[in-house]
Amino acid sequence: MQAYRASLLHFHADPAFRDDAHHWHEDGLLLVDEGRVVAAGDYDALHATLPQGTPLHDYSGKLITPGFIDTHVHYPQTDMIASPAPGLLPWLDTYTFPTERQFADPAHAARTAEFFLDELLRCGTTTAMVYCTVHAASVDALFAAAGQRQLRMVAGKVLMDRHCPEWLRDTAETGARDSEALIRRWHNKGRALYAITPRFAPTSSEAQLRLAGELATAWPDTFVQSHVSENADECRWVRELFPQARSYLDVYERCGLLRPRAVYGHCIWLDDADRARMAATGAAAAVCPTSNLFLGSGLFDFAQADRAGMRVALATDVGGGTSFSMLQTMNEAYKVARLTGSYLPALRMFYLATLGAARAMGLEGTIGGFAPGTEADFIVLDPQATPLLQRRTSHCASLEELLFALALLGDDRAVAATYAAGNRVHVRDAA
Ligand code: GUN
Ligand code: ZN
Repeated sequence: MQAYRASLLHFHADPAFRDDAHHWHEDGLLLVDEGRVVAAGDYDALHATLPQGTPLHDYSGKLITPGFIDTHVHYPQTDMIASPAPGLLPWLDTYTFPTERQFADPAHAARTAEFFLDELLRCGTTTAMVYCTVHAASVDALFAAAGQRQLRMVAGKVLMDRHCPEWLRDTAETGARDSEALIRRWHNKGRALYAITPRFAPTSSEAQLRLAGELATAWPDTFVQSHVSENADECRWVRELFPQARSYLDVYERCGLLRPRAVYGHCIWLDDADRARMAATGAAAAVCPTSNLFLGSGLFDFAQADRAGMRVALATDVGGGTSFSMLQTMNEAYKVARLTGSYLPALRMFYLATLGAARAMGLEGTIGGFAPGTEADFIVLDPQATPLLQRRTSHCASLEELLFALALLGDDRAVAATYAAGNRVHVRDAA
């Protein structure tokens, strides 16, 4: 057993719908054994229960929360973050496809996977839903590197059989066959979980989407991930390609791709009927504010999503996103909410990046919280990480103000340490 002393924050409900959704222990203790949480509570109450000789790690003055969960990110796009283009479709053609071509080389994939995972850990992200490339070996590289770090990662091979360069194409049949082989090789092996990953409707034939849907039905505890309703030009293109569908989202529903554990990136241009279908089927939205502002895609409507009862979580969408940091993602999410007339308290944003994401993915009880038995993925946040953070957080009148300052002013520098399955996998100030 290991014990960690710090302020503790975690959730048991969504603060948008309940005032008592969070647990806050100003002087707290987190107990971890064999990679799982044993207890989280007040230091005074818990330290007397510790077996003699239990190591105590003193992070007093810092804040421990569950590790962040990034519900939509492209590891092959690490090297093309911050690449300029006038919108999504030219950005895909100019940067994305040539960059992803390099993953035909497994050694390149392995090197990039290592850097990517270490960057996530530096930012306090312990689980992500990851797009690989069309190459099956790009999935092997990601899961191999995640396994070495004992990380809970969800990832899948991109399916893409049209409207992209010929050198990045699979076919409906080879894509489904390769995906099934990867499911058998990786899904539920250690902490790895597989996501069936049609890139988006324009780059998959209907036959490919149907086979992906059949696979999703045959393997109900796998994940599904794709993009939907991100950009106006993209939405127009989907209407031309699938004139029989009621909407862009309906293209996926007709193919059996809306279900629990299906996570759709962006969801900006959904209508009310779409939102109702998301809520009814248990599919979730991965909201990507840094990407949506960067590419000029649009503003996610948090209030409408909440009204419909949709599952929502936050995501970076790197390389479309401009930061790996979920704190910086909260910063931009807050402003997007303001621009659409709604308001996102910091408490809600921390929920959306932890337990809310775990719920969106059907992984509550596994990750995202400190209920006993949950996997011990947690981070140590430093309210004094920079001179400005130190100055601002020295006079916070409430927990909300403290979390808000961390979200608005924090980034990788605010993450003093990251733990996965109870092991320390990142430390900021290594001696
Ligand atoms: N739509 C299809 N592919 C992509 C991608 O790689 N990034 C983003 N942001 N949108 C997409
Ligand atoms: Zn994306």
